Amino acid sequence: MSHRNNVNNHRTSPSTPEGVPGPEGPGTGARVVTFEAVRDNPRVKAFIRSADHALEIIGYTEHGERHVGLVAHIAYNTLKRLGHSERDAELAAIAGYLHDIGNAVNREQHAQTGAVMAMRILTDMGMPDHEIVQVMGAIGNHHETDGCAISPVSAAVILGDKSDVHRTRVRNPDMIKFDVHDRVNYAVEKSFLNVDESRKEITLELTIDTKISQVMEYFEIFMTRMLACRKAAIYLGTSFGLTVNGNRLT
Ligand SMILES: [Fe+2]
Ligand SMILES: [Fe+2]
Repeated sequence: MSHRNNVNNHRTSPSTPEGVPGPEGPGTGARVVTFEAVRDNPRVKAFIRSADHALEIIGYTEHGERHVGLVAHIAYNTLKRLGHSERDAELAAIAGYLHDIGNAVNREQHAQTGAVMAMRILTDMGMPDHEIVQVMGAIGNHHETDGCAISPVSAAVILGDKSDVHRTRVRNPDMIKFDVHDRVNYAVEKSFLNVDESRKEITLELTIDTKISQVMEYFEIFMTRMLACRKAAIYLGTSFGLTVNGNRLT
């Protein structure tokens, strides 16, 4: 059975029971930190909003709660569909939600900065070290220019992050004449990450308004991202494909 992550419209989040003892068991001080607890943490909210604000100032597309919530959702669903454990899927959701907080410090090396910021948050929340390091590795490797899949959790975050290309990310549609990133994002009317577990295939399905941007422009901008998706999909034991307006391109 294939599963579609609606890249544009999700609002649901993974849920797990709260208060379950961690792998270290009761009395060790470690807790199961849920996705919901991370999402609702006031410091997480402040960091995500600051990161998005900093990127707005330097002219980047939307990187706020919509983007990171979507990445969390896709990362979670991808691992669940491919048969990974509930907890690994939840760690992917947590890493997906935190992956861009480093932008609050600086766009350069935001993946690595964000990983260290997440360590502080998750330590304070009582997450055990073996899980913290998984989340850190996923955050620190999510950027296509200086990271790659080092675990299923990190592969899922890469796939979630790179598949979020959509009109709603453009902050000022007046700029689409001048900025190719804005133009390509604005041209994408629909995007789905289709995880077909039976065929071991992950496909990013895009619907692009070619009156706004040509498909070639998409590749000019996003070739490195598509290669990162391909590597991440291969890490998960699947192939990666891209369809644009129903035509298979890779
Ligand atoms: Fe990022
Ligand atoms: Fe991102």
